[in-house]
Amino acid sequence: MKQKISQITKEVDSFQAKSLEEVVVFRLKYLAKNGLLNALFNDFKNVSETEKKEVGRAINNLKIKIKEKISAFSEIKKQIKTPTNFDLSRPAKKNNLGSRHPLSLVESEIVRVFSSIGFNISEGPEIEDDWHNFTALNTPKEHPARDMQDTFFIQTDPDILLRSHTSSVQVRHMQNNQPPIRTISPGRVYRNEAISARAHCLFHQVEGLYIDTNVTFADLKQTLLFFAKELFGEKSKIRLRPSYFPFTEPSAEVDVSCNICSGKGCAVCKHTGYLEILGCGMIDPNVLDNCGIDSKKYTGYAFGMGIERIAMLKYRVNDLRLFYENDVRFLNQFSSEI
Ligand code: DAH
Repeated sequence: MKQKISQITKEVDSFQAKSLEEVVVFRLKYLAKNGLLNALFNDFKNVSETEKKEVGRAINNLKIKIKEKISAFSEIKKQIKTPTNFDLSRPAKKNNLGSRHPLSLVESEIVRVFSSIGFNISEGPEIEDDWHNFTALNTPKEHPARDMQDTFFIQTDPDILLRSHTSSVQVRHMQNNQPPIRTISPGRVYRNEAISARAHCLFHQVEGLYIDTNVTFADLKQTLLFFAKELFGEKSKIRLRPSYFPFTEPSAEVDVSCNICSGKGCAVCKHTGYLEILGCGMIDPNVLDNCGIDSKKYTGYAFGMGIERIAMLKYRVNDLRLFYENDVRFLNQFSSEI
């Protein structure tokens, strides 16, 4: 019996716990109901009277030792939990704040530029009727120019469609406001296009509208030059090419000097030195009259640009689909622009 006790004592003395689990196993091994300590107490009955005192004390000492071992380990745990050697002045770990989407960045920049010269912001519905999207803009049913914008119509009601351009917002704005009007309308538009690096079934535009007495093509040109310099840099130049839109007369397409080769000619601008950024023109008098503005008294200009196209040029993105795939490796690159 004495030999057994001294052997268990040695075992307890040499016990080292590396984890909480090991301490639990240790406690169960010795202190559980059917553990080694109770087994010793049971055997105690058979110890001779002369040895009872000595053996009893040895068992009790062993019990104390086991409990001390267990509480010693709890002490170590407490020390781990409350370290005293940390540095309160150390800067905290930085939180990831995310980044703004490049299309939002470009839209805010366009809004900032036009707000600085007195334009306000107007919005309209993405689900539109035929009149606001086409007919009021000099594009009645069967007009061939409708082909330029392959439109999503609602099957159950051919009068309702997903707007194919933000020009529908200029119609609504003219109906509800009288000149002087200076407004820009950013928003999402939809077209039935096959998705590729250059086209998508949804994209974003900003429409611009300026109506007052004596507004001329020269005002339009100067405003767009100011815009190009603000967005692409002071050295930017613009070029206007005659074009056709049903709602403007005369109409033009505007190119900005290539910001990659500074107009010298490179692969991006197909060696022309210029990149197309928007469509514009003087508002057709029919459109003014359709929307309740007296075309004999007022003239105005309008323009429309694609936000994706401008973002692609500004950030040199060569695939439009990247804007919609939400790949954080792409989006993280814009975090410094917040
Ligand atoms: N709505 C045209 C489009 O989506 C863009 C446009 C061209 C808007 C000329 C205008 C404009 O206001 O004057 O292709």
